[in-house]
Amino acid sequence: MDRMAGTAQIIDDIRQLKAERDAILLVHNYQPDEIQDLADLTGDSLELSRAAATMEGEVIVFCGVDFMAETAAILSPKKTVLLPAEDACCPMAQMITAAELNLAKERYPDAAVVCYVNTSAEVKAGSDICCTSANAVKVVNSVKEDTIIFVPDRNLGQYAQRFTKKKILPWEGFCIVHDRITPTQVKAARAAHPDAEVLVHPECRPEVIDLANHVASTSGIIREVATSAKKEFIIGTEVGILHRLKKECPGKSCYPLASGAICRNMKKTSLEKVRDSLATLKPRITVPDDIAARARTAIERMLALP
Ligand code: 13P
Ligand code: SF4
Repeated sequence: MDRMAGTAQIIDDIRQLKAERDAILLVHNYQPDEIQDLADLTGDSLELSRAAATMEGEVIVFCGVDFMAETAAILSPKKTVLLPAEDACCPMAQMITAAELNLAKERYPDAAVVCYVNTSAEVKAGSDICCTSANAVKVVNSVKEDTIIFVPDRNLGQYAQRFTKKKILPWEGFCIVHDRITPTQVKAARAAHPDAEVLVHPECRPEVIDLANHVASTSGIIREVATSAKKEFIIGTEVGILHRLKKECPGKSCYPLASGAICRNMKKTSLEKVRDSLATLKPRITVPDDIAARARTAIERMLALP
């Protein structure tokens, strides 16, 4: 069978298996193009968390990285949650452990703990409230404490600090993709596209954020391109987002700020792995009940915010 016919067959198999399993495909904005094209929902971490909690279906196939599938499993304990690429992890989420968080809490007993959704279930379980890149500022301002231990992304923590009087103590974690984007790249992109707006993700360094016109989550960036009167945009986040931008904003031109901004873990999902996971119901993501119960409290506090 030639390659195109092989791909078409796998896509057919996925559609059939999805129906048989009563499965939904939740797909992050950084996933490979062909996976995005099969999605029931493509979105940012917040949208996908809400969907995991509310969408019908026996099985959730989570095309993303481990913490996203864990969050889905925490919010939908009765559903079978599959992560087709078993080794797809987020290196930033691994930059803090539950034991390290406990030490920080002992050091700052009066502080609230806000954890970025890019954390393990254990770290979420030790946190007061979760946040995503779409609502970090709102979450930080929602807690009653004046001091906040913010884990693990120092860049998102410092970004939230710009919009609050509270004292944020950022953990020293970072995204290995966004933290590498430099002000020099922003200046070069602006020189190449002088009429373009610069849109960046808040995981970027403060000095990159200083040069941007707009800072938003991945879906926030897509919304900004779709609704802006401008025609050209420089996109400062992982390049997988360009697929949706091309499909959903056909009259606009989007240029990657850093064409090397590729999250290798997000690219581990393949059509074959999606088909196999639906066929075998593996790899399945589960979270022990006691950890899930505490982590769910932190996530649901976030989801309850208006
Ligand atoms: P979003 O929630 O903005 O999609 O970000 C997730 C992520 O991992 C960014 O690197
Ligand atoms: Fe983690 Fe960065 Fe990849 Fe997002 S882009 S999943 S933060 S490594």
